[in-house]
Amino acid sequence: MRTLTGIQPSGTLHIGNYFGAMRPAIDAQARGECFYFIADYHSMTSLFDPAERRKNTLGVALDWLACGLDPKHSVFWRQSDVSEVAELMWLLGTLTPMGLLERAHSYKDKTAKGISPNFGLFAYPVLMAADILLYDTHRVPVGRDQKQHLEMTRDIAIKFNQTYGETFVVPESEIRDDIAVIPGLDGQKMSKSYGNTIDIFGEEKATRKKIMGIVMDSRTPAEPKPDADKNLAIQLLRLVAPADVATDFENRLRVGGLGYGDLKKALFEHYWNYFAAARARRAELAANLDHVEALLREGADRARAVARVVLKRARQASGLE
Ligand code: ADP
Ligand code: TRP
Repeated sequence: MRTLTGIQPSGTLHIGNYFGAMRPAIDAQARGECFYFIADYHSMTSLFDPAERRKNTLGVALDWLACGLDPKHSVFWRQSDVSEVAELMWLLGTLTPMGLLERAHSYKDKTAKGISPNFGLFAYPVLMAADILLYDTHRVPVGRDQKQHLEMTRDIAIKFNQTYGETFVVPESEIRDDIAVIPGLDGQKMSKSYGNTIDIFGEEKATRKKIMGIVMDSRTPAEPKPDADKNLAIQLLRLVAPADVATDFENRLRVGGLGYGDLKKALFEHYWNYFAAARARRAELAANLDHVEALLREGADRARAVARVVLKRARQASGLE
């Protein structure tokens, strides 16, 4: 049973990304074989600054390693280091109906926003199918926004198998609907596009200021607050503090006597401690980038060993060999 997922090299990660995507992926390592890669080829469809791409790719590698991705146990690599995926994309592309790609929500959303599409953006789901099929993947954990891309991958695999004979494992998606949406500083979904994030590795002073700036209502500290469980700071505290500590704060808020300032101070302290070990690991890794580079290359070697076998199977099935 192989689990695989692609991670976008999209800059600074926030605690919504952490609790919604990273934590579940890191926990999955205990349950079986995991293949995780940084989707740097995909980033080329919308980012055209090479220095920025390098920086983001490295940043994401540091973030994931610091947060507990274990490169001994899991296979962790940079997508473009296994360029076999680009060849498989061609093979799959020749069996992908234009209509299928024209119906892709993410493509339609982007063009509707006025982004002038390049071929890469249009072909994005075919590259994604190649990512998945190249490694005989069984399970692909993704957010709901990727569901349609997974369905396309299945369609493309089935079409290839029908045309050229059984070649690819047809993967199952694992949509993470059970994971709560982490609220941001303004109470909406935390998202980098809303500017309401708490970064995982944010700078101390700036993050303290952000958290102390969360807007609350005007009730006095003494007033009981029967809706304490809905309080944003309590909800965030639940993520980063031990359960009994969070419950204690919630109870104090409910009965009255706890000021919002003290609650926010506690939230900051717990957030800061929660990520302390990861922060130290990240600093260590950042001071030893050759080591990080070596880990990614080793990961690519392990990924390529699988990729070669599967690509050969596809080349033989389709009559290239
Ligand atoms: P953003 O909304 O900040 O652009 P992305 O869309 O890049 O975040 O999300 C990357 C991953 O993190 C996805 O799997 C997504 O489901 C998860 N994620 C992002 N924001 C949240 C959130 N507020 N709560 C839970 N999961 C989230
Ligand atoms: N498109 C995915 C996203 O935006 C990233 C991705 C690329 C991916 N290739 C993949 C996810 C293969 C799962 C499997 O999040």
